[in-house]
Amino acid sequence: MTTTPITTTPTPPSSSTEMVTVTIDGKTQQFPKGTVLLEACNQMGAGVPFFCYHPGLTSPAVCRQCLVDVKGQPKPVPSCYTPVADKMEVMTKSPRALDVRRQMLEFTLVNHPIDCPICDKAGECLLQKHYFDWDAKLARNDGIKIKKAKVVDIGPRIVLDQERCILCTRCIRVCDEVAKTHQLEMADRGDHEILTTAPGHKLDNPYSLNTVDVCPVGALTSKDFRFEMRVWELYTTPSICPGCATGCNIEVHHSRGKIQRLVPRQNDQVNEHWMCDEGRLTYKRVHAERLAAPMSGGAPVDWDEALDDAGRVLRAALDAGSAGVGVVMNAQSTNEDLYALARLTFDHLGLGKAYLAGLDQGWSDDILVSADKNPNTAGAMAIGAGRLRTLLDLANDLKSGALHTLLVVGTHGVIGKDGAAGALPLDRLTTLVVIGTHRDEVSAAAKVALPLCEWAESDGTFTNRLGMVQRVRAAVPPAGDSLPGWEILSHLARKLGATMEFTEAKTVFAEAKQKLPFMKDAEWGRPLLPVQLRFAGSRG
Ligand code: SF4
Ligand code: SF4
Ligand code: FES
Repeated sequence: MTTTPITTTPTPPSSSTEMVTVTIDGKTQQFPKGTVLLEACNQMGAGVPFFCYHPGLTSPAVCRQCLVDVKGQPKPVPSCYTPVADKMEVMTKSPRALDVRRQMLEFTLVNHPIDCPICDKAGECLLQKHYFDWDAKLARNDGIKIKKAKVVDIGPRIVLDQERCILCTRCIRVCDEVAKTHQLEMADRGDHEILTTAPGHKLDNPYSLNTVDVCPVGALTSKDFRFEMRVWELYTTPSICPGCATGCNIEVHHSRGKIQRLVPRQNDQVNEHWMCDEGRLTYKRVHAERLAAPMSGGAPVDWDEALDDAGRVLRAALDAGSAGVGVVMNAQSTNEDLYALARLTFDHLGLGKAYLAGLDQGWSDDILVSADKNPNTAGAMAIGAGRLRTLLDLANDLKSGALHTLLVVGTHGVIGKDGAAGALPLDRLTTLVVIGTHRDEVSAAAKVALPLCEWAESDGTFTNRLGMVQRVRAAVPPAGDSLPGWEILSHLARKLGATMEFTEAKTVFAEAKQKLPFMKDAEWGRPLLPVQLRFAGSRG
């Protein structure tokens, strides 16, 4: 029998950590005292299976799938519930350990509906994986399986299939321990035990979609992703959520140029194993109402013509009086786009009027969600270095006639739903040039509008609320003719007689890292091409 390795999170020792010596399957190694035995076994490549264990949650040891033999113990022990101890001798592949794990798996499967052909979890299901790794035999149960409810609508974003549930309680613990709300619980007993919503509750907390990630089987599925895609057709690219200033680490799962879902990527300093539901849906804007072609005078033109036109109208405006020319930066842009724009604005053109736009503040909590709904306010403020003014200042400058020309790079939040930006009298301008991602009121009002890549279409970095510079990676091809901001700005700079020859995002990053103290320790990381989604059980 061959088993696919299961890896669990390594526990890095600190210099003050007390170490214990453990022998696992004849190999001896030191581990920090307190390490969960299951983690120790799997760090040594033992491939011990598990269902109810999750490294980010407490361990109730309810599934018994992780049983191993420990010398001196009369019965196999649940390794997810047992800390390593000095001189412990563990046998993960003794005949008894293999036998009890096989029996537990058979129990788990007795009433399981084996929906794999129509189940969203197929391809990343721990039950499917363990069955093929550990048993792969025909069922011995030829009786009628217990029927339970399917397609139960338990909340705005989740559907429950009670037959597929293996009663591991991971979803209950995510709600209790991460979202801090008790919305799920078990009811009934024995074969008839079911997962259900707590009396008077729906599964509607702001972190509810984490239950879908941690569910080891297809019992909880996301309404947004359900039946959209088989997971083995997905490619994955590591990136950062653009939904707020927290900067949760994510994987972008995509196929054929379209993002299908965002899932959390473990970073213990930022988001551990989790992300909020709102953040998961930020991918939708990447594919909605995009400005896909350069526009000049309201008509689509090619890039050369659009850049010529943008350069000409901006040059004329500068010649008419650079004091009346302003620039709007955006807290949704990457550090690289902002750095290129700051170089053009302050170093090359010597402009004195620069403003910072971004999405309006929103709700927040003390779990993950920030009130600042922009992923790079910290980067924008640092790059602006005290030179950026607010949209209220912009509105005042427009009303007073202090501005006749504006270059807007990133239109998110420029026309706010109810803030000062909503009252921006852009019609007072003689010239408006926009570099933007979407077809909106701002790009529609522009003399020249140049299509800009969204966060998931270009490489760069965001700086989160903790000041951590984190890498964003292009996951899908740019919409239409869109280009990264730093590239458009390099072309535009040339048209305006400035030299700013950036050839790739990495060279912008390298220059910014040299010049900006907040980026001095930042790492670009190694090049990564999107890879086909492996078995994703490590997320669970
Ligand atoms: S729904 Fe999934 S996560 Fe919740 S108890 Fe059932 S199997 Fe476990
Ligand atoms: S907390 Fe913020 S960064 Fe994290 S997933 Fe939610 S919106 Fe995205
Ligand atoms: S994983 Fe150990 S008892 Fe469930």
